[in-house]
Amino acid sequence: MAQEDQLKKVIGHAKEYGFVFPSSEIYDGLSAAYDYGQLGVELKNNIKAYWWAAMVRMHENIVGLDASIFMHPTTWKASGHTDAFNDPLIDNKDSKKRYRADVLIEEYIAKIDAKIAKDVKKAQKRFGDAFDKAEFLSTNGNCLRRQAEIDGINDRFKAAMEADDLVAVKALIEDLGIACPVSGSRNWTDVRQFNLMFKTELGAVSGDAGVIYLRPETAQGIFVNFLNVQKSGRMKLPFGIAQIGKAFRNEIIARQFIFRMREFEQMEMQFFVAPGDQTKWYEYWKDQRIAWHKALGLGEEKYRFHDHIKLAHYADAASDIEFDFPMGFKELEGIHSRTDFDLKAHEEHSGRKLRFYDPEREESYVPYVVETSLGLDRMFLAVLSSALREEQLEGGSERTVMCIPPALAPVKVAILPLLKKDGLPEKAREVLQLLKLNYNVQYDEKDAIGRRYRRQDAIGTPLCVTIDHDTLTDGAVTLRDRDTMEQQRVAIEDLTAAVEAKVSMATLFS
Ligand code: GAP
Repeated sequence: MAQEDQLKKVIGHAKEYGFVFPSSEIYDGLSAAYDYGQLGVELKNNIKAYWWAAMVRMHENIVGLDASIFMHPTTWKASGHTDAFNDPLIDNKDSKKRYRADVLIEEYIAKIDAKIAKDVKKAQKRFGDAFDKAEFLSTNGNCLRRQAEIDGINDRFKAAMEADDLVAVKALIEDLGIACPVSGSRNWTDVRQFNLMFKTELGAVSGDAGVIYLRPETAQGIFVNFLNVQKSGRMKLPFGIAQIGKAFRNEIIARQFIFRMREFEQMEMQFFVAPGDQTKWYEYWKDQRIAWHKALGLGEEKYRFHDHIKLAHYADAASDIEFDFPMGFKELEGIHSRTDFDLKAHEEHSGRKLRFYDPEREESYVPYVVETSLGLDRMFLAVLSSALREEQLEGGSERTVMCIPPALAPVKVAILPLLKKDGLPEKAREVLQLLKLNYNVQYDEKDAIGRRYRRQDAIGTPLCVTIDHDTLTDGAVTLRDRDTMEQQRVAIEDLTAAVEAKVSMATLFS
C-alpha cells in the first residue's frame, strides 16, 4: 500500500473506532489539533505507564515531577528560547504557501537518499547473499556521487545556520532548484526567523510586563526544580528527573495527523551527571531508549538513529531515534547531551546557585545533563500505524486487526456470552467482575460471535473470553488469541493468570 494511503487508513480507522478525533469537529475542526477518544486515551495512558515504569520505577536514581505549564518568563530568556527558538520560514510568492526552509532542504536530501536506497536494493537483488552493503556504498560511483552531494548540502546548510546567514539559506534553496510543491514555481521570499513560542498574558497585567509563554518543552520545569528535588530527595549524582506533560509550539507547518501538532505531550527525563561523564551516559541512554522501543515488538527494522549535524544551542551531542512512520523515517525521540548550559543559564538569570557538592571530588559544580525526550503523540502514531493490518484469512475472508502490543492495548479482554439467554450473560458478568479488578475489559453480547471477534480485532483487544453452555457446568471459558486466532479452554480460576501472561507490562522488561 502506498505510504500516503496507509496514513489515510490510520486516520480513518482512528476516528471510526474512537482513538483520535479532529478537534472541535462540529465547527469544521482546528488545524493540527486533535482529541483522543475513548480508546485513544486508554492507549495513551498505557504508553505513559510503560515509559514511567521504565524510567522511574526501574531506576532507583530517577524520580518524577509534574511542573506547571506557565513559568516565570525569565525561564525562557535563560534557556535561549526567547531569542533562539526559531524556525527559518520562507513563502512561495505564487502559491502564498509558507514552508520551513530547513524542511525544504531536508526533503530535497531525502530524495537523494531514496535514490541511494534504490541502487542498494537493485544491487542486493543482483548479487543475492554475496551482497555487501557497506562495500557497495563505498565503491559504487553513483552512490558516492550522491552521498557527496548530500554532504555538500549539509555542510552549506550547517554553515549558513551557524552564521545565522538567512541569505545563504535562500541561496541554497535557489541553487538546488527547489520548487514549491503547490505552484511548482521557484519564486521565493527571503528567509525569515519565526519564534515558535505561544505568548499570552498573565491575569490582569497587560503589556510587556504581563507576557508569559506556554512552555515549548517540559524540560525547563525540571531544570528550575533541580535543586528542590536534589535536596528534598537527598539525591546523589548521577540522578534523573522524569516528567510527562503538555508542550506548545506555534509550528509554521503542522501536519501529518498527530505527528506535528501545536499542542502535544512530551515524556522527558533529564539525567544529571558529573562534568566529564556526559558521553558515557549519553551512550547509555541511547542504548536504553532504543531497547525500550524495540521491546514493544513493532519491528526492529522500523528504528534507526540519526545523529544531528546541526546541534541545538544547548547540546554537545544529539541523536534522534527515527521511526518508519507511514510518511517514511521521521524523528520519534531525541537524546541530547545538553552540557551544563541550562543550569548555568538559570544560575546567571536567577542569581541562585544550582550546584551539587560532590563528596568524592570534594567540590561543588554545575552538573551536566543528558536528556531523553519522547513525543507521546508520535509514540501513539508509531504504535497505531504499525499495528493496523489487513489480513487474508483461510477461506478467502479478510479481517482488519490492530496488533497493538498487548501491554499497551486499550481493552485487554472482551467478555462475550455466546447467546443472550440461558444464563450466559449472567455468568459472563461474573467473569467481567473478576477481570475488571485488574484490567480494562469490555462486555459485548450483540451480534454473532464472529462479528464480535472482528470488532475486538479492529480495536486491538488481545484476548476474547467466550462463555458458552459448557461454562455453566465445567466452569471453563474459551480464550481466543487476537494474533493467532487460536482458541483454548481455560478454567475461570486460571483466567487471571492466563490474561496476565499475555498482557502484563512486566514481559516488556524481561
Ligand atoms: N527538550 C528537548 C526537546 O523538546 P525536541 O526534539 O524539540 O526536543 C522532543 O522535541 C520530542 O518532542 C520530539 O522528538 C518529538 O517526538 C516531540 N515533538 C516535538 N515537536 C512536536 C510537535 N510539534 N508535535 C508533536 N510532537 C512533537
